[in-house]
Amino acid sequence: MQNFTFLKPNCFINDAAFDWLYPEQIQQHSRRHWTPLGIAKTAARFLATGPGKKILDIGSGVGKFCLVGARHFPEVFFHGVEQRVDLHQHALEVKDATGIHNAFFTHGNFTQIDFSEYDGFYFYNAFFENLTDSDHIDHTVEYSASLYHYYCRYLFKKLEECASGTRLVTFHSLEDEIPPCFQLVDASNDLMLKMWIRR
Ligand SMILES: C[S@@+](CC[C@H](N)C(=O)[O-])C[C@H]1O[C@@H](n2cnc3c(N)ncnc32)[C@H](O)[C@@H]1O
Repeated sequence: MQNFTFLKPNCFINDAAFDWLYPEQIQQHSRRHWTPLGIAKTAARFLATGPGKKILDIGSGVGKFCLVGARHFPEVFFHGVEQRVDLHQHALEVKDATGIHNAFFTHGNFTQIDFSEYDGFYFYNAFFENLTDSDHIDHTVEYSASLYHYYCRYLFKKLEECASGTRLVTFHSLEDEIPPCFQLVDASNDLMLKMWIRR
């Protein structure tokens, strides 16, 4: 764990400053696995439609999206669910270190979450690690193509059940989990970041 005694006054100023809050091994995963600050801010702005709204990050890793979103939108609640206990623990530690009060983290599988409690969802292709042989975060979980398809089908169904007006942001998604009732309303120039609203 980092020594936070000399915590920089603004660790939200750029990715390097934010990533420094985590141990080196976690920092090394940042470029590949954690949402960049600028993307997190853009995504959060789209999802944070008003005070008291609740946003869920499906597969929240070390909490980067939730913490950045919560910092920029203090009246909105950012929740993250993460299957790996050590990543979940890092999210809690950095939440404490940064004094963010409106980010919350749950350790578990996203399939255990009640989607009806949320107004919007962020999804940085959490299931892709099941399709690739390289760049895994670690080997503490099982990977398989069938798990990828199971999770995509499960999320597709949960999103389909959401109320009209529900917002979704995807980053690097293959779109297998997005039901046709979600309409694409905006996207980044490289099309990696997409904003959707349920009809
Ligand atoms: C690409 S990382 C994104 C992390 C975070 N959302 C961010 O933007 O910085 C995807 C994360 O999803 C988690 N994940 C994958 N499948 C999951 C599942 N079924 N339930 C909960 N977490 C899951 C992984 O452990 C990983 O930490």
